[in-house]
Amino acid sequence: MSIHILGTGSYAPEHVMTNHDLEKMVDTNDEWIRTRTGISERRIAAPDEATSDLATHAAREAIEASGLKPEDIDIILVATCSPDMFFPSTATLVQENIGAKNAFSMDLGAACSGFLYGLEVARSMLDGGRYHTALVIGAEKMSSLVNWEDRGTCILFGDGAGAAVLAFRPERAGGLGPCNLGSDGGLGDLLMIPAGGSRIPVTEQVLKDHSNCITMSGQEVFKHAVTNMTKTAKHLLAEAGWSPDDLSLVIPHQANRRILEAIRARVGVPEDNVFVNVDRYGNTSAASIGIALDEAVRSGRLKPGNKVMLLAFGAGFTWGGMLLEWSTPA
Ligand code: COA
Repeated sequence: MSIHILGTGSYAPEHVMTNHDLEKMVDTNDEWIRTRTGISERRIAAPDEATSDLATHAAREAIEASGLKPEDIDIILVATCSPDMFFPSTATLVQENIGAKNAFSMDLGAACSGFLYGLEVARSMLDGGRYHTALVIGAEKMSSLVNWEDRGTCILFGDGAGAAVLAFRPERAGGLGPCNLGSDGGLGDLLMIPAGGSRIPVTEQVLKDHSNCITMSGQEVFKHAVTNMTKTAKHLLAEAGWSPDDLSLVIPHQANRRILEAIRARVGVPEDNVFVNVDRYGNTSAASIGIALDEAVRSGRLKPGNKVMLLAFGAGFTWGGMLLEWSTPA
């Protein structure tokens, strides 16, 4: 376990949209949203704020916390399903913003599992020995993908970014441990944005029927999220020989409080050991684990030696988990 997280960062836009604000936009109410999802409010980016702007804030914080300089970064991976544009990649825009002149940069698409996929891709590249440091960012402006007339989806999502700087530090104890990733492309149509890409380009009709926005079969997604994250968690614990009680903290993708509770109960983790901030941010897709990890670090919830599990699930479907032991700060 010689790859370590040296620093984390996160950013959430200033504007808070509460459930009461949503009551004025669609036929919903605060009580329904809170009881079905656990969400009370979410952050919404300003019209002139794009995903790369959110990512840049989080990246700067993570680099500062790592003790490195932007020019020390070898790899920039931005996990997002709401890039600023098709190309250039959001990662290259961030590279320019932060002045990481010596990095190569690319985006990674695994929807809500993107940050976790990014950690594993970066770790594998660092393990190879050719690169030494990586900046992994999950960043989303989900508000730009949501149909604000669809109460089944618009209440769920929010904007934000989370980041981590990874490096090869063989002299340190702990670090990133076993990881298990999976996907099932046969279930893609249960959570998708049907139009706006090369299959169905944007037309007037597309804009009229909002098929360039998120569509979702909520109950199906719910079931698969619980099943796959539970299976992954148990698989990882068995692989590491850890018991659920060994975990100081589980940081799952923040999709829905009820999903988190179902997984927690099935895996057998004490309630206090599951990190929850979905109430304040909603589902920020690829950003959620990075934001939660940063909040856990900055609030002192993660201490050196703590055993941690990250768990993700998203469109594709994609899913995954990773174990790590929090190491001494840089
Ligand atoms: N406000 C009020 N009522 C709403 C509503 C809203 N925002 N959205 C849906 N409803 C209504 C439905 O129309 C339905 O009414 P009906 O019984 O008269 O037909 C009723 O509430 C129940 O809808 P249902 O879809 O069965 O609710 P649910 O308990 O499954 O909760 C979700 C809906 C979306 C919250 C839930 O399915 C979910 O969280 N799924 C997972 C989504 C997710 O995490 N996606 C991202 C994964 S990365």
